[in-house]
Order: sequence, then structure tokens, then C-alpha cells
Amino acid sequence: MALAPSPQRSKTAARFAQKLASDKRFKILEAHIKKFQHRQDSLIEVLHRAQELFGYLEDDVLRFVSWQLKLPASRVYGVATFYHYFTLKPQGEHTCVVCLGTACYVKGSNKVLAAVEERLGVKPGETTPDKKVSLLTARCIGACGIAPAVVYDGHVAAKQGPADALQRLNQWI
Ligand code: FES
Repeated sequence: MALAPSPQRSKTAARFAQKLASDKRFKILEAHIKKFQHRQDSLIEVLHRAQELFGYLEDDVLRFVSWQLKLPASRVYGVATFYHYFTLKPQGEHTCVVCLGTACYVKGSNKVLAAVEERLGVKPGETTPDKKVSLLTARCIGACGIAPAVVYDGHVAAKQGPADALQRLNQWI
């Protein structure tokens, strides 16, 4: 007889079902994990893909990976904090993630990135000295139909040009 999932696991499943429905990035990450057949030894590859998708490894993403790979969260956090490559939390009050995936790139997201870099005086992965804004890049966040896409504080914005990005930044700084 199959064991019923624990109440905690069912709660987690319900929470992530919502994420999967509302945020394509989770869907893409899930497909990537499936490709590795949920193998626990794929953890580092999965975290790489997650960072490419989200720009950094936010709490929910790490918990999603732990849930999907059936690994203790402590192990996932342990690996994510061990490697310098992984960014757990942008230091800034706001985050601006510019998608550099192919669809966005060919529609000019490199120009958006250049404008943001110039305005903020920082490179991807850095935070402005006043800790206002962290700039990050991602690779295909699953919104190619509205390319170029930029994620401002977790909200995906469509068809962004340099002027749109600068207007947003000006509201922050
Ligand atoms: S390439 Fe940017 S959303 Fe797909």
C-alpha cells in the first residue's frame, strides 16, 4: 500500500503548484530537473540553471529544488552557499534582472543592459554603493513572446527598451 504524503509535503506541493502555474521560470526549472530524472547528484547543474533563470537563488527557488530533488533544504543551502558563483540574495533594496536569452538578445536586451549599467554604474552581479539596486542577468525566463523581458523586483515587464528601464530605475533612485 502506498504511503500518503505527509501534511507538510502536501502543503509544499500546493504552494509550488501555484508557483508553477503563475511563474514560467519554475516550469522551465521543473523541466530541467526532469531531464536529470530528479537525480540528487544533479544538484549543482540544477542550481546553475536556476540562477540562469532567476538571476539569483531566492529562498523559494532553493526550497523548490530541495522539494523536487527530495534533498534536505540544509544540503541545498549548503551547496548554494559554498560556491561563490551562486548568489543567494541581491544586496540591494530593488532588483533588476535583464534577460539575455536569445529571443531577448536579438530584440535588443543588450542595449537595455548597457543603459542600466551606465545609469547605475555597476555590472551584472553588483549592487549600487548605496544598496538601492542590484543588477542581474538571466537566460530565458520563459517570456520570449514578450521579449525583451526585464524582471523588476520579481515582476516581469514586457518589451523593454533602454528608455523603459531607465524610467523604472528613476523611480527607485
Ligand atoms: S529569451 Fe528572454 S524570455 Fe526567453
